[in-house]
Amino acid sequence: MADYKYENIKIDIEDGIAFVALNRPEKRNAMSPALHYEMDEALPRLEFDPNVKVVVITGAGGNFSAGQDLQKFFRELEKNPLERSKAASAANRWRWERLYNFSKPTIAMVHGYCVGGAFMQLLGCDFAIAADNATFSLSEVNWGILPGALVSKVVADMVLPRHALYYACLGEPFNGKEAARIGMVNSSVPLKKLKPAVINLAKRLMSKSPAVLKATKQAVRHCRTMDFYQSYDYLAAKGQAIKVGDAEDSYNTGLKQFLEEKSYKPTFQPFKLKRGAATQRKKKAK
Ligand code: COA
Repeated sequence: MADYKYENIKIDIEDGIAFVALNRPEKRNAMSPALHYEMDEALPRLEFDPNVKVVVITGAGGNFSAGQDLQKFFRELEKNPLERSKAASAANRWRWERLYNFSKPTIAMVHGYCVGGAFMQLLGCDFAIAADNATFSLSEVNWGILPGALVSKVVADMVLPRHALYYACLGEPFNGKEAARIGMVNSSVPLKKLKPAVINLAKRLMSKSPAVLKATKQAVRHCRTMDFYQSYDYLAAKGQAIKVGDAEDSYNTGLKQFLEEKSYKPTFQPFKLKRGAATQRKKKAK
């Protein structure tokens, strides 16, 4: 098992689920440059770790994150443009490029405060579940800046424009139930049930073929910005790509289990994964 030792983040792997917690609880998990560098290094390691099937992004000590560290990320880097640029690149890369394109499913588990820049990792994850009493706030307007990096864009992309404008312009806090109502998270649950709800979702995701899941999440994300003809083309090519890379040979396995074995109904449940089915077939063919 790989050894993930960091100072500003904490990684625990439990039954295929990597819980990645920002770990500066005394600062409500505000994100310093050092934390960004560690996240930027850890995510690709988790992506290629065979023991990790799903990644959960969260925060230690009862809070998700209070956003960028106003002292260490903003004030201290004002006079150091080189370091500022490096830190901003790492911050944007892990919170957006890496999470958005992550090849395994990602879930944001939100409790306590989720403020400002923390919306990037919240919305970079494929799914999000919040505690009913979590506190979300696009606080930027309250201290004279815009929801920057990509926060304005990803919030506007995720929820209806009325909600995006309302919360960005007023900076008013809202709870987990409201976050679920406006589509900022998938659901909210009482705090006590948060981790079980996340584990339940992760387990359901793990019952699917990883290759098909990866292609499906990419397809849903990327088609949003394509026109119909680009989408036809992209989806057809992606469909072919699954057949090449799918260790479960999902298409044939699924058809066989439905048509011949009559062992499941795709409308309600996944077929039984046969890990390495395609590899075994290739070996037989040789
Ligand atoms: N940057 C740097 N330090 C932060 C921080 C941030 N974003 N958010 C919290 N902290 C620090 C506080 O300065 C304080 O440090 P100290 O103990 O050395 O004084 C510590 O974390 C605890 O914060 P505190 O305000 O006392 O806790 P709280 O539970 O009463 O309130 C918040 C928590 C998140 C509501 C409040 O700290 C806050 O509004 N923070 C700013 C959040 C923000 O606007 N982020 C946007 C950045 S893009």
